[in-house]
Amino acid sequence: MTLNHNEVNLLNSAITDGNPNIYSLFSKKGKEIYFPSKGVLQQGNAAKGKRINATIGMAIEDNMRPMHLQSLDKWIPLDPLKVYPYAPSYGISPLRKRWQDLIKEKNPSLNSDISLPVVTNGITHALSIICYLFVNEDENIVLSDKYWENYDFIFQYGGKARLNLFNTFSQNGFDVASMEEKLEGKNKKQIMILNFPHNPTGYTISVNEAERITEILKKSADRNNKILVLLDDAYFGLVYEDGVLKESLFSKLAQAHPNILAVKMDGVTKEDYAWGFRIGFITYGCQSSTEALYKALEAKTAGAIRGNISSGPHLSQSLLLNALTSTSYSQEKKEKYNLLSTRYLVLKSTLEENREKYKPYFKPLPFNSGYFMCVQLNPGLDAEVIRITLLEKFSTGVIAIDSMIRIAFSSVSEKDIPTIFDNLYHACQMFS
Ligand SMILES: Cc1ncc(COP(=O)(O)O)c(C=O)c1O
Repeated sequence: MTLNHNEVNLLNSAITDGNPNIYSLFSKKGKEIYFPSKGVLQQGNAAKGKRINATIGMAIEDNMRPMHLQSLDKWIPLDPLKVYPYAPSYGISPLRKRWQDLIKEKNPSLNSDISLPVVTNGITHALSIICYLFVNEDENIVLSDKYWENYDFIFQYGGKARLNLFNTFSQNGFDVASMEEKLEGKNKKQIMILNFPHNPTGYTISVNEAERITEILKKSADRNNKILVLLDDAYFGLVYEDGVLKESLFSKLAQAHPNILAVKMDGVTKEDYAWGFRIGFITYGCQSSTEALYKALEAKTAGAIRGNISSGPHLSQSLLLNALTSTSYSQEKKEKYNLLSTRYLVLKSTLEENREKYKPYFKPLPFNSGYFMCVQLNPGLDAEVIRITLLEKFSTGVIAIDSMIRIAFSSVSEKDIPTIFDNLYHACQMFS
């Protein structure tokens, strides 16, 4: 079948009528994608509730219930209707609405309209779908020089884009000036990824840095640059210090400027400790937008998902919806936050108490949130050699990244945290 130009044009007009700057951000593929409102899906929907429905590609029992196997069902205390049928490509509606409400609750300064979140198969998938929709080959993506390595796979190897890196830190904070340099020029398309709490460093910007970043982006947008800001909020909510940005930058950027499209990518993977559920969300926010524009963005997103995984798992979406509407949810989350926060504090005091002792070998990079922190090894020490030594001589596993060692305090019990650093110290001593 050929591309349905009519359907594509309807969506593209809704976007250009709402805000033509947003349309100019789409990739070639993104401009052409649509969610089919006709065809198999529409014909299937039209037949819902009819006495005989021979439309859907699922198997139905004679009593009209979804066919399923007892050996699966005995493990799942949910209505089979919420488990076995396909979920929509957009994700199930009550979950999308609930997640949107939660975004607003968790980001109280977000005052503008936002799209309804579209469900993805985890945050990696959200990033890949955004790459499909907005990134053309050879385009630049601005991000900090310390970054989650999967961005290489998604944007560089998958999207054939170029990563244009700025310094992550200057002294003890985010290198806002270095970021600004990458957003110079006018009348251009700019794409930037920001990830707080950050992987690998565990850093979240201060409230003041968030203000400065917002101002820089607005200034760039005033120069008629069209800016796509991708906010990878995988570790949202896990902030352990005062003065650090507790809300997502989305609150500011979704209402910053008609030339800025903010895309929030978040999910239950890290923040709700459900790594294997594979549920993420894509949510859009732009100062100048309309209901029809948001619907078109959602439709293009769902169209890209349809051509990629068809739809996400229904079972985990139903389970999650139950959790997110449960009365004990917030309390349970708080307990887990407290546990991670305690580990963070123990780690911080271990480093403070031993600052002079560790100084000849390594120093911590700024950290205040998330799952991780990094230490920078002093010149002459090889991170990979230290990692292997820690494994072989100290039975301790860490990640070596360039000349840094990344420590996931999220996965280590409080009592073992001082030991990690003691082991690291002794491993470094062996090579000095
Ligand atoms: C910054 C960041 N974004 C996204 C992800 C991936 O999330 P998901 O497992 O939901 O794909 C990770 C996982 O390590 C991450 O560190």
